[in-house]
Amino acid sequence: MELENLSVLEEASLLSGASEWDSRGIAKAGIPSFVMSDGPHGVRRQLGSGDHLGIGESKPATCFPTASALANSWDPDLAEEMGKALGEEARKLDVNVLLGPGLNIKRNPLCGRNFEYYSEDPILAGRMAAGLIRGIQENGVSACPKHFAVNSQELRRQASNSVIDERTMREVYLTAFEIAVREAKPWSIMTSYNQINGVYAHENHHLLQDILRDEWGFDGMVVSDWGGSNSAVDAVKAGGSLEMPSPGYTSVKEIVDAVAAGRLSKSDIDRRAAEVARIASRTRTTGVQRDALLDAASIDAHHQLARRVAESCQVLLKNDVVAGRTVLPLAPQSRVAVIGDMAKTPRFQGTGSSKVNSTREESLLDEFMHSADVTVAGYRQGYERQGDANPALIEDAVALASGDGTEVVVAVLGLDERSESEGLDREHMKLPAVQNDLMKALKAVGKPIVVVLIAGSPVELPWIDDVDALLYVGLAGQAGASASLRVLTGAVNPSGHLAESWPVSYDDCPNSQCFPVAERDAVYREGPFVGYRYYETADVPVRFPFGYGLTYSRFSYSDLHVDEQGIAFSVSNTSDVAGESVVQLYVRGPANGVLRPDRELKAFVKVALRGHESSRVRIDFDRYTFRHFDQTSQSWKVETGRWTVMVAEHCESVMLQAEHEVVGDMEPVPADPELGAYLKGRVKEAGDAELAVLFGRPVPAPKKAAVFGANDPILAWQDSPGFLARTMVRILLRHERKTREKTGSPDLNALFVLNMPPRVMCKMTRGQINADMVDAVVAIANGHACRGMGSFIAAYIRNRKANRNIAKELQHG
Ligand code: BGC
Repeated sequence: MELENLSVLEEASLLSGASEWDSRGIAKAGIPSFVMSDGPHGVRRQLGSGDHLGIGESKPATCFPTASALANSWDPDLAEEMGKALGEEARKLDVNVLLGPGLNIKRNPLCGRNFEYYSEDPILAGRMAAGLIRGIQENGVSACPKHFAVNSQELRRQASNSVIDERTMREVYLTAFEIAVREAKPWSIMTSYNQINGVYAHENHHLLQDILRDEWGFDGMVVSDWGGSNSAVDAVKAGGSLEMPSPGYTSVKEIVDAVAAGRLSKSDIDRRAAEVARIASRTRTTGVQRDALLDAASIDAHHQLARRVAESCQVLLKNDVVAGRTVLPLAPQSRVAVIGDMAKTPRFQGTGSSKVNSTREESLLDEFMHSADVTVAGYRQGYERQGDANPALIEDAVALASGDGTEVVVAVLGLDERSESEGLDREHMKLPAVQNDLMKALKAVGKPIVVVLIAGSPVELPWIDDVDALLYVGLAGQAGASASLRVLTGAVNPSGHLAESWPVSYDDCPNSQCFPVAERDAVYREGPFVGYRYYETADVPVRFPFGYGLTYSRFSYSDLHVDEQGIAFSVSNTSDVAGESVVQLYVRGPANGVLRPDRELKAFVKVALRGHESSRVRIDFDRYTFRHFDQTSQSWKVETGRWTVMVAEHCESVMLQAEHEVVGDMEPVPADPELGAYLKGRVKEAGDAELAVLFGRPVPAPKKAAVFGANDPILAWQDSPGFLARTMVRILLRHERKTREKTGSPDLNALFVLNMPPRVMCKMTRGQINADMVDAVVAIANGHACRGMGSFIAAYIRNRKANRNIAKELQHG
């Protein structure tokens, strides 16, 4: 690999993609082009130019449980095993960089991509991501954790500014990435679409240089999200290495011109080019055909692995005693009525760029039918999947459930394909009303009811008191159905625990009144009080707390010992059934210290124990246990004082606790009384003055832009004075709604365009459109149709000529 002899133009050409999925190579310097592909829970390798929204065809690959399900396993080693299989498949399918895992913090349960993310907690998200990354990279494939950072809503996803205080950003939103980077050393990382405090992630020096590289020691490539870069020149300066997918030569030209004009240093380009070239050498493949497919042995082995992973992800949320025994596992040979469309037509992943063309598919109904452990009394659809009212389906289901042939009802419920998608946030946290109506009718039958719930995010459960058992499956991948059956029949003891809190109703969420934000500025008003950090501090009851999950075993905990280095305690399985306990370590800071949530997760361990077996467990403290980000010195500090350490089964159930004197590097600093409502975590009561204290600066209220710019989403044109722009948006909106109603799935292309700012046109059109042409489009949107058209044509001619010249120059190198 020879970079020294490359011209500025050649180096600049390495810094943007050649096509939807390919980087540019330079043969004479021994730098091959490499392939990037989604996504976090399976390989989505498209041939040709493809699309980045999961719509087009891709090679078959194993669909593992999505991140939100995987996190419920609380098992980073399992994530590593899954990562290894992903890496193997990536290799075989000619992929060098796998675009995942996604590890954004779940700020609000309605974010459309939450199913692609792990948790509301950074320690859990970071550790799970680190496991997956290690596994992927063992195969010489680069993992690419994303979306860095503070990316929490899909509405306006490419035109949103996350306004956040530095301390919350560091402690809650960046710590997961920090753990992933420090522990697993990913070779690349993907920046997010949004701005952070006014600066795009891909050109954010503070994020990419000060924090990622200087503080965490990242030495890899920073790739933009697809169409997510803004100024090519600012990105190179700030630490963004590769723009994807395909700005053609427009960015190359901008970079070369900036060097010529002295606005960009050659050494910055050298550094970025070396980062891209290093990926090519680290992931170099030999002998893999572009159209290679998976072999039968891998397909089979990975399907089994997908099942094992799915088994660990299932969370038993309720299991009542009926007639002297718990409803689950189902009694041998019980006669089961299987009810619910999702039992027959499975749903096991979300919609969007992460969508995998799975090698196999299972349905829960088939699995029941083939089970030797239970008898199927019958199947009824129960509800229309898309939520249309159909009372006849409910009547049919009730008739089956009431019949003498049925002993237990298994109702399979869930969210449909429209509800969980990239590009679209959920509108509410409810299941379709028809499913809730079905549950009301089934309750009247009076037989035991088991609910199997398929959804990548929490839903409100108005019928929870009417059912006897609830198994939360999540989006469990292509082998999710057989995994669920094995849990229902007791072949597998459930060991999953919730990786996010389940509020009773959406209104209980700390940010329910300000999510998603329709204007540019999304203000993170709740500060650090996200998920259980809020519910526990503000004393808001939840349906199921963070970390919650039942098993068929019983565990007890004793003999907590705390020393300077960590804690030790004993855990015993007091039942006959072998099982796994997920033990969680929480800490509470000194009473006179800085503002903090009531408790915070700092470590966890999954302990497998045979019936009546005990084990002594040790957890060491680490750099994350007692630290906080000190706003004054802008550095991590530990407060000296009396801390509380808690060993818990979930965030509300503390089994053992002790006080522990920590000798830190600063005396406790009492929280500023001006923080008002924040002192008790009551973030919804906090006014602007308290918010300004939390942020250390006044925070202006979000406002609408008066004139449309290159960075405002096309959606905003619905208010444009220009007839053309207004009409185009209305047509797109109507088209999207109609497609959704007709197909049951969102129209991702239309959504992408609506949330896209015009600048993205010059990032995704292989150089056909440049910045001058974008400005012309913007003039049209602002009602200057004639002027805009004229400039567009002139810029088009200039751009074509410039592109031809660059292509010629690169060819003759
Ligand atoms: C998504 C990324 C994805 C990329 C490539 C973007 O729209 O946000 O997560 O990796 O497309 O498909």
